[in-house]
Order: sequence, then C-alpha cells, then structure tokens
Amino acid sequence: TLKIAIIGAGSTYTPELIEGMIKRKDALPIAELVLMDIDARKLDIVGKLCERMILAANMPCRVILTENLDEALQDASFVLSQIRVGKLPARVLDETIPLKYDLIGQETCGIGGFFKAMRTIPVMLHIADRMKALCPDAWLINFSNPAGIITEALLNHSDVKMLGLCNVPYNMFKSIRETLHLDHPNFTYVGLNHLSWITAIEQDGKEYVKTALEMGLNSEAMKNIPSSGFSKEVIQMVGAIPSSYMEYYYFKEKKLKLLKESELTRGEKCMQIEEELLNIYLDSELHIKPELLSTRGGANYSEVAISLVDAIYNDKQEVHVVNLLNKGALDFMEDTDAVEVCAIIGKNGAEPIKVKDFNNQHIIDYMRMVKAYERETVAAAVNGSEDAAMRALLMNPLVGDYNAAHQCFNELKEAHKAYLPQF
Ligand code: G6P
Ligand code: MN
Ligand code: MN
Repeated sequence: TLKIAIIGAGSTYTPELIEGMIKRKDALPIAELVLMDIDARKLDIVGKLCERMILAANMPCRVILTENLDEALQDASFVLSQIRVGKLPARVLDETIPLKYDLIGQETCGIGGFFKAMRTIPVMLHIADRMKALCPDAWLINFSNPAGIITEALLNHSDVKMLGLCNVPYNMFKSIRETLHLDHPNFTYVGLNHLSWITAIEQDGKEYVKTALEMGLNSEAMKNIPSSGFSKEVIQMVGAIPSSYMEYYYFKEKKLKLLKESELTRGEKCMQIEEELLNIYLDSELHIKPELLSTRGGANYSEVAISLVDAIYNDKQEVHVVNLLNKGALDFMEDTDAVEVCAIIGKNGAEPIKVKDFNNQHIIDYMRMVKAYERETVAAAVNGSEDAAMRALLMNPLVGDYNAAHQCFNELKEAHKAYLPQF
C-alpha cells in the first residue's frame, strides 16, 4: 500500500501538495498520508484543512497528524520534505544581517543561503538516517532549501534514495511554451539549483532558442524575486536564457540596492502572508486551496512534486528536471556533483540525460565556480570547519570579500547558534 509522509507539513504550502494528490488520485492510490511537523499549532490548522480537502475529494485515504518523525517515516513509500529549520524568523536574519556588510541577503543564494544550508543539512542527515531504519526503500523527495546543496550533502553523505526539487525549471518551461506558442518542445536545461540556464529549445526538428534570444525573451520572474530584468543584450551575451535567480549574480549591485531599500524583507512579507493564510485555513467551511497561496514563490510546486511521485510509482519513464548526481550527464562536472538537469524518471528513480557537445564556456565556468562553493559548504556543514566555511564563502560570487564574509559569518553564527550543532 502507498503511504506518503510529509515532513514539515505545518507549512502553509501543504494544501498545494494535497491539491496535486487529489488531481492524481486515480494514478496514486494513497492509502495513508502522514502529516508531520514539530509546530503543533500550524500542524493542527493546516492538517485539518488537508483532511477536509481529502474528504471532499472522496479519497479513501487515512490522514494522520503527528509530531513524531519516526511514526511518520515508518513503512513510508515516499517522504516529501519541506522543512524550514528556525522557521521564517531565521530566514529574516539571513535576509537582514548580510545587508549590514553590503552583502546580498537572500534565503538560498549568498551567505544567507549558506547559513540556511548549515541549519538544514544536519536535520536532513538525521531524517535520512531514520529513513534507513524505518523505510529503507522509500524515496525522499526534498524541496527544503537550499535544495541543490541539500542534494549535494545527502547523496554524498548518506545512502538515502533521494531527488531534489525546485519549481523554477517548471515555471520557466511553462512561460516559454506560452510565449513562443510551443506545445511539445524539448528543453535543454543546465545548471545547479537556483543557478541555471535554458540553452536549447527544440520542437519538430526546429531550434527556438535563437528566436527567444532575438526576442530578448525572459522567463517570467518568480513571485518572490523583485525583478531587475534581464535586457536583450545580457541574454544574447550569455547565449542562453537564465533563470530569474541569476539576477542576483548578474545584477548584484542593483539587487543589493533594492534589498536595502525595501521596507520589508521577503521573509517578513511571508510571515504576514502566512498569518493571513492560517486565518483563512481556520474556516471549517473551506475545503480547497485558497487563492492567496499563489502569492508565494512556490506556485506549481505541487504539480512538480506529485507528478514526480506519479512518474516513479507508475514507472512512467517521463522527463523531469531534478537535482541528482551528475553521473556523466554534463561532461564538464564531476560524477558526484549534484546538478539540476533533465532526467528520465521511472520506478528505479532518475537517470540524468546526457547533454552532448555542450560548449557554452560561460555556463561551464560559472557552474564549476559555484559548485566549488557548494562542495566546501557541505564540508563546513558536515565537519563544522570554520576554515571550510570561509573558503566556501570566498568562492561564492555573491560574497568573495574576506573581511565582510568573516564578520558577517560571526554575526550570523551567533544569531543562529541554537540551530548550528556543528559549530
Ligand atoms: C521559489 C523557489 C523556492 C523558494 C520560493 C520562495 O519557488 O524555487 O525554492 O522556496 O520561491 O518563495 P517565498 O514565497 O517563500 O518567498
Ligand atoms: Mn527553488
Ligand atoms: Mn510534433
């Protein structure tokens, strides 16, 4: 029987996932759904809405709410993890403290993302460890951020079966299909999580990336990123369509200025949205996902996650973009590097699709540089080495400066100390 566990189910995003499960209820006969969170209040409010949604959809599925990780994992077939260690207040620290040192404050990139990795990796390694004992054959589908670095850590430091997910590639494909009126294009998508580009768009033997470059086509900005806008010039110079997260790299100064000027950080804004959502969820008449949820950056992530579960469970041999070990897909990266690329998904998991004759040297070099940062970041998270931490931050194009990095590191380390067992 099919048992799915959601770790971090008190997240206001969970009704998205439930909506995805309802949409595919015929393909995915879920017998048991366990919603696990350590936040009893949010678990109760969000969990009850999820129960109502499932009941209204006539799904013959038992729903269990628990604060106990082991109970959730026991005999699970799929474990979906969406944890946020330290919750939104920790995110706000990652967003605000770096600004004092003229560094980008963002939850997945730069030094903020680095600290999110430091908090999250030990907890994810613990989950992987418990899965080994309680559900060794289960798939871990992770969207806890920074999703790429978490994949890098888990696939190199545990033997859990896992895939990392993000909604950025899905949203980029969708907006390009709509703008170029293509109904079955094949995309070549190359990168690391939140550091990625579309380098080819092919349909019926015709190549469309050039058309896109000529149009200066920009994949629609994510809801959570204040847009600086890629100009046509920039896109043509790069020779590929960058994801909107590349704005933090290509327009670093402009982004820093925008972040410093903005009254609320994204995390503070999300705290407001979250309280509003919880209020809406409390309404016992409500049994669908409310519209307000689409103002968060996670739009379409239910589709991304549940279609992936469907592809594995039903051995669909479909193409999805996932985070996984490179295993030769990109010949310029190591086999053990976690990358975000297209892969064929079936009952045995994911096989990355080899990208042939790749020659965009800018992308090759950029990916290698940021991967060097990610490897040292994982080393710092696992070993608690402050030297590794500093080496990592010096490799990150959004940090780089030793004095700024060192002082900011110390301040963030102090601010987050309750969640940093390794240091
Ligand atoms: C996008 C990213 C996610 C990120 C989210 C933030 O969906 O792909 O990795 O978690 O945005 O959205 P938020 O509404 O929390 O700012
Ligand atoms: Mn993402
Ligand atoms: Mn055709």
